[in-house]
Amino acid sequence: MRLLGPPPRVPLTRSAMAGEKLFAQIGCAICHQPTMFTGPNIDPALDRKAVRLFSDLLLHDMGSLGDGIAQGTARPREMKTPPLWGLRARARYLHDGRAATIQEAVRAHDGEGRRARERFTQFGPVQRTFLLDFLNSI
Ligand code: HEC
Repeated sequence: MRLLGPPPRVPLTRSAMAGEKLFAQIGCAICHQPTMFTGPNIDPALDRKAVRLFSDLLLHDMGSLGDGIAQGTARPREMKTPPLWGLRARARYLHDGRAATIQEAVRAHDGEGRRARERFTQFGPVQRTFLLDFLNSI
């Protein structure tokens, strides 16, 4: 399991490249951090590797999107940012599968994710398509 990779990224189209910029501009990348690095590891496959996971692996207060469960140090409204790699291979989204589409999942962001969500909902159809094309490529 440790050595299984995520589904490979598909080459970015021009539309997806425009979406990548929007992803950063409206604040998605604050939590869904594009790249992190593994620490030192005796296994060369895991040693200081760039990991393009699109997560900061941190807890955030997600307001109404919280699962209502206090677990360890996580309070009821706090959720850990999930990696977005391989998003196109998933069938349903969010911790309870309540979102049938990527767009629904983004529209459900609340709490610390509210500002980015509001900026997403202000997009016109062209910008929305750019961003969704990007999310379907990573
Ligand atoms: C404050 C941090 C934060 C910001 C900003 C944020 N997200 Fe998220 N995102 C999360 C968390 C936490 C979850 C998990 C919530 C859940 O499972 O209920 C999540 C879940 C998702 C999911 C569903 C992933 C899955 O596997 O089900 C998608 C898609 C997503 N975010 C895209 C975006 C996009 C696009 C933006 C910008 C408009 C954005 N996020 C901004 C924290 C954030």
